[in-house]
Amino acid sequence: MSITFDNKVAIVTGAGNGLGKTHALALAERGARVVVNDLGGDVHGDGGSLSAAQQVVEEIIANGGEAFANGANVADFEQVQQMVADTIEKWGRVDILINNAGILRDKSFSKMTMEDFRLVVEVHLMGSANCSKAVWEIMREQNYGRIMMTTSSSGLYGNFGQANYGAAKMGVIGLMNTLCLEGQKYNIRVNALAPAAGTRMTEGLIPEEAFAMLSPESVSTGVMFLVSEDAPSKVILGAGAGSFARAFILETAGAHLSPEELSPENLAEIFSEVDDREGANEPSAGFEQTLKFVNLANQ
Ligand code: NAI
Repeated sequence: MSITFDNKVAIVTGAGNGLGKTHALALAERGARVVVNDLGGDVHGDGGSLSAAQQVVEEIIANGGEAFANGANVADFEQVQQMVADTIEKWGRVDILINNAGILRDKSFSKMTMEDFRLVVEVHLMGSANCSKAVWEIMREQNYGRIMMTTSSSGLYGNFGQANYGAAKMGVIGLMNTLCLEGQKYNIRVNALAPAAGTRMTEGLIPEEAFAMLSPESVSTGVMFLVSEDAPSKVILGAGAGSFARAFILETAGAHLSPEELSPENLAEIFSEVDDREGANEPSAGFEQTLKFVNLANQ
């Protein structure tokens, strides 16, 4: 099976640097026409310029591909809508959306301002929602769409100093979970990437040796699979240094307290049963949890 993107149009946000850049180059190498979006600010989201995106476009064109640069701020819905309109005007469709743009405003929660919290949520979560919304009707009408969210181990498992970032990164998983369900009928598949890569974002945080090993290119390999024709849907794929792993949100089988037994003390008593991972599963939608509780109560 070979993965190609001939006749496909892709938008990659934050593609001027790091992971977005290698995703864009890999897509173009396999035949996609690519919109290289980047606001061009620094890691903290300050400043802006089109030059980083422009350089990636030049690299794609030099390699014989097709691309154009776009400087929309993903947190601004109007700018995102204009980016999508420009794409449609130029190439007539959008097959792939990679929500990758991101910034950091790390501080312990105690020292974090709510402005820093809001900005990080605006870029990662609202940015992903804005871009997904702007392409959604197009993908539905085409009966084809592949969307990738970029989550993080920080959101999935927590990381000191990243309350804002972790919340935003888990938020995109919630967005994915529902878009998968709503997009299924229209052949829209939505997945999430949890990358580990040496980029300007992780410079100084990852030891030098590991930094070299954790190439963005190795992560982009996983991305090509997640946005391919035969992609799965609702997968959270961890990727780093050539290794791949899948993360799940599981729920235990559960335990029941009858109306007479219902008390916090009794819950404490049976908590080891509630916590027992034997028989845990991944509900396919939220209502499954409700059904399970009703069934347990009926038994
Ligand atoms: P990076 O800083 O090299 O690249 C991020 C790009 O997004 C930059 O080019 C930046 O200009 C752009 N950007 C930022 N705000 C934007 C906005 N509002 N609109 C448009 N573009 C904007 O960082 P890196 O490492 O390549 O990160 C890419 C994604 O992967 C981010 O979402 C990040 O949170 C995520 N990630 C990265 C990890 C890593 O190990 N490098 C780990 C987990 C997640």
